[in-house]
Amino acid sequence: MQILNFLNAYFYPKPIFFPGEYTLPAGCTLYIRLHCLHRNPKFWSHPNEFYPDHFLSEAIANRPKGCYFPFSAGPRGCPGKLYGTIVMKTLLSTLLRKYKFEDRSEI
Ligand code: HEM
Repeated sequence: MQILNFLNAYFYPKPIFFPGEYTLPAGCTLYIRLHCLHRNPKFWSHPNEFYPDHFLSEAIANRPKGCYFPFSAGPRGCPGKLYGTIVMKTLLSTLLRKYKFEDRSEI
């Protein structure tokens, strides 16, 4: 929940109070530390591994919203988000059509 509040503060016109912790003054600039957010073991079971199961529907449902911001957010978020996503999907679909993949993790 704190992360959501933190992100909302990016646009939020009033101070935000974290009980017993901090007060973010209205209009302050926040820098979202994506690297730390995306490797926080509170939210990611295998924070330092390539672990696609992080993105299974159950895993997503069990994680608070706001834990994953690959393109950042807010007024300085990535303007290439849509383009970047389309390029990645195009690349993946091209590879899947062209090559046969197998799981060799047990070897
Ligand atoms: C998978 C691909 C991409 C990822 C993960 C990504 C991620 C990001 C992130 C996290 C930021 C914010 C950086 C910060 O807060 O300091 C950003 C900013 C930016 N991105 Fe991307 N990006 C991607 C692709 C692209 C593409 C394809 C373009 C352009 C065609 C692009 C253009 C920009 C620009 C211009 C900014 C600066 C926005 C600003 O400061 O107002 N990005 N990107």
